Amino acid sequence: MTLQSAPVSKGLEGIVIAQSRLSKVDGSIGKLQYCGYNIKDLAANALFEEVIFLLWNYRLPTQSELDTFRADLAAQRVLEPELLGMMKQFPKGTHPMSVLRTVVSAIGMFDPEAEDNSPEANQRKAARLASVMPTIVAAWERIRNDEEPIAPRDDLTLATNFLYMLKGTEPTETETDAVNTYLVLLADHGMNASTFSARVTTSTLSDIYSAITTAIGTLKGPAHGGANQKAMEQFMEIGSPDNVDAWFEQAMENKRRIMGIGHRVYKTEDPRATILRERSKALAESSGDRTWYEIAWRLEQRARSHEFFIERNLFANVDYYSAIVLYQVGIPVDLFTPLFAMSRVAGWSAHVMEQWADNRLIRPRAEYVGPEDLAWVPIEERG
Ligand SMILES: CC(C)(COP(=O)(O)OP(=O)(O)OC[C@H]1O[C@@H](n2cnc3c(N)ncnc32)[C@H](O)[C@@H]1OP(=O)(O)O)[C@@H](O)C(=O)NCCC(=O)NCCS
Repeated sequence: MTLQSAPVSKGLEGIVIAQSRLSKVDGSIGKLQYCGYNIKDLAANALFEEVIFLLWNYRLPTQSELDTFRADLAAQRVLEPELLGMMKQFPKGTHPMSVLRTVVSAIGMFDPEAEDNSPEANQRKAARLASVMPTIVAAWERIRNDEEPIAPRDDLTLATNFLYMLKGTEPTETETDAVNTYLVLLADHGMNASTFSARVTTSTLSDIYSAITTAIGTLKGPAHGGANQKAMEQFMEIGSPDNVDAWFEQAMENKRRIMGIGHRVYKTEDPRATILRERSKALAESSGDRTWYEIAWRLEQRARSHEFFIERNLFANVDYYSAIVLYQVGIPVDLFTPLFAMSRVAGWSAHVMEQWADNRLIRPRAEYVGPEDLAWVPIEERG
């Protein structure tokens, strides 16, 4: 079979483009591991910073390594005043993912190491990005509400400091714990679309700031990371558990997709959804407001008992219940996807480093299906 006659793989489904030691996604049994560790154990026990270390070193840190790593990350949280000034000029209605994409790109201009692609420089730049992205997200929330950004603290965990910068007060343990678990769960996920785009950019020998900027742009779409915001908007549109049935019937009639359901790889339940379902239920019970959990739960039950969803193996994915978790800890709905990016930057950077370690230009082909050998027509003769 020549390349010209190779079948088109729309959406690259099932195509393996690299070997990776980062995460194993088993879509048939719903199992996810980072560097050999089950996501359930990591979600129950790990600090997000520990997971970043794991992904960048392929092993868990010792206590002293974790202390040093945390201190190093915490020392890099401050955003350049020039960039904070730039953010104050942005239109207030700009989507936070667009702000994040633009500011991450701009950070590269302030880094004297920007064009140094050595493994050491890349690891330093990755640490800088993972540390400063929460500052950008929290600062934008305040700037767009005409409030001064709150300076980061270096004595708090990444999750706690983010909530502190966002709200101006130290969060409760429940809030911190929910955000930390969310960050742990989203840190890496095989060759997903945004990771692939980061690898494509890296494969051209471009720098890590360009690769992460590319990845943020890819994550933004509702078929990928943007689904968590869309899922929450869908629950808000439903409004009450009693409206679920009517809303579902209408959605089926209009052939509307249920956001937060379906996955390219998982043909059974996404293990992250299992953990987040439990977490969102616990949050609902402790706050006494079960509305959002009930809406999500009833809609999921309704979909899962419908033959359309059964036949196509469509289950809740990570974005479905993460929307409920993040909403219940008071994260503004359009910051959900930036939180996803704050987590996934750990995996993106790890993949960028893997790509550098064994690179070949990623350059697939397209099957040309247009006309050929047309005669040139002078402009005055074109009808
Ligand atoms: C994630 C997603 C993009 C995967 O897409 P994919 O692997 O390309 O699968 P397809 O879009 O080809 O969908 C396969 C079938 O399931 C249906 N389907 C997929 N997700 C659906 C959903 N959320 N609601 C209703 N139907 C859905 C499609 O209509 C299609 O049906 P068909 O065979 O009759 O044409 C898709 O499931 C989706 O759009 N989900 C909602 C958005 C979302 O939650 N994204 C976050 C992913 S983590």
